[in-house]
Amino acid sequence: MSATVSISTHRCTSTDRLDDILRMVHAAFAGFQPPSGVLNETVDDLARRLREGTVIVAQAGDEFVGSVFCATQGDALYLTRLATTPAWRKRGVARALMAAAEAQARETGAKRLTLRVRVTLPKNLAYFERAGFNVTGRGQEAGRTPYITMERRLDIAVVPEG
Ligand SMILES: CC(C)(COP(=O)(O)OP(=O)(O)OC[C@H]1O[C@@H](n2cnc3c(N)ncnc32)[C@H](O)[C@@H]1OP(=O)(O)O)[C@@H](O)C(=O)NCCC(=O)NCCS
Repeated sequence: MSATVSISTHRCTSTDRLDDILRMVHAAFAGFQPPSGVLNETVDDLARRLREGTVIVAQAGDEFVGSVFCATQGDALYLTRLATTPAWRKRGVARALMAAAEAQARETGAKRLTLRVRVTLPKNLAYFERAGFNVTGRGQEAGRTPYITMERRLDIAVVPEG
């Protein structure tokens, strides 16, 4: 497979293939230690995410290769479960998903994209920093892995230094 691939992203509005999307998400998070809570999520949970927020999927032909779940939180669009299936990583799938989420955020007047990164995943932290996100804080839910909160402002133009 070449490094350049043709993928498309779109908002998922149908419940027809939620099982395929969930299988792909589970494959993306399979290696997490401690295990990700997403592995306990079912098609019904995914259907609820469709009702209460947005699921953006990336497809290569008929195959689901990535997804991100979005929810409006105040003036922000909160992104969670960003996932690319292992065989399709490092080909820009997650970047395309984030671009689609940004377009949605701008359409709805959101001022920020926000997300959380586990403290145990420094490579993810660095990845999101390269994608323009800044650290805004830290948190931890009872019994869960601590996380770092990040945001990318959409209402401020960032001028590169130098
Ligand atoms: C984190 C994750 C979503 C990234 O997905 P991805 O589709 O591989 O991401 P991208 O392709 O957009 O970018 C990954 C890297 O590949 C590079 N890349 C993108 N297109 C490329 C191409 N055509 N050729 C070579 N490299 C490319 C990017 O520059 C980026 O490099 P960097 O890490 O040095 O910045 C994926 O690794 C994943 O699903 N991980 C498990 C779940 C997870 O951790 N989710 C995030 C929770 S916070």
